[in-house]
Amino acid sequence: DWTMENYAKTAINDIKEKVGDGKVLLALSGGVDSSVTAALLSKAVGDKLTCIFVDHGLMRKDEGDEVEAAFKDSGMHFIRVNAEERFLNKLKGIIDPEEKRKAIGEEFIRVFEDEGRKIKSVDFLAQGTIYPDIIESGIGDAAVIKSHHNVGGLPDVVDFKDLVEPLKMLFKDEVRELGRELGLADYLVNRQPFPGPGLGIRVIGEISKEKLDVLRDADYIFREELEKAGLDKSINQYFAVLTNNRTVGVMGDFRTYDYTLALRAVETTDFMTADWARIPYEILDKVSNRIVNEVEHINRIVYDITSKPPATIEWE
Ligand code: XMP
Repeated sequence: DWTMENYAKTAINDIKEKVGDGKVLLALSGGVDSSVTAALLSKAVGDKLTCIFVDHGLMRKDEGDEVEAAFKDSGMHFIRVNAEERFLNKLKGIIDPEEKRKAIGEEFIRVFEDEGRKIKSVDFLAQGTIYPDIIESGIGDAAVIKSHHNVGGLPDVVDFKDLVEPLKMLFKDEVRELGRELGLADYLVNRQPFPGPGLGIRVIGEISKEKLDVLRDADYIFREELEKAGLDKSINQYFAVLTNNRTVGVMGDFRTYDYTLALRAVETTDFMTADWARIPYEILDKVSNRIVNEVEHINRIVYDITSKPPATIEWE
């Protein structure tokens, strides 16, 4: 009978059969799909798997360290590439959202290639492609609203023989269930979607390390308060956006001229349409007070009350 336990066993056997003594390379982002792919492959082929985690410096607070901690001692080869500087340099001066996405996507492939080339004789390239990815990137005449960099070209690493895509037949909730079955930590399995370009598309306008740090701290407080209030069960995605807008404020006896932070939280089942979440005023109030008091350079907080459509979930 069909259980996730049986599915996992079958998948592990299939991978063993396909891979044999070959070496496998996987780009691990720390998102649900690539994390579950890593766990599954690791169970199947152990140290024949190498995971490259490209830390683009556009992750949320502490996220890079969390990913490293989750996989470092798992028996596979785990390589974290700290590429923050490379990405920041590449992004200098770019303000257009699509240009940002393309720059981040391209740089990601370049970093992955540079690292992958150091590994000799890779036979298989693994990917965390899930069923909806295949459908969505399929042929259609829908206009490209935003380019998602995780579907598209393959890195030109080495002459690998074949792709391994063990999640190709699964939907997102099944991927999470499989992750649990494989013993992955809850915070990895339950992770809300996070765009490939990361905080790069949540800092509006030109990106800098300083702005990213401000956003990381504010975003952390927002998430922490929603989780404390138990709202993370019903709200499917929530995050902060650092707008490029500065306004006048007053702090003590002093005039401030600092950034406006936007809070975004949506309820959705498929992320194709979404409704803005009716967060209780008291929670919004607490979040707002904490952020302006605890995070420097933010003196105004707004809450995004548009649904998708006409807005999208992310701001860029
Ligand atoms: P939008 O902003 O288009 O986002 O309403 C819909 C969902 O997709 C996520 N998103 C991305 N996911 N790579 C991804 O893997 C990307 O480039 C990307 N851009 C947006 C977004 O967070 C939301 O969940």
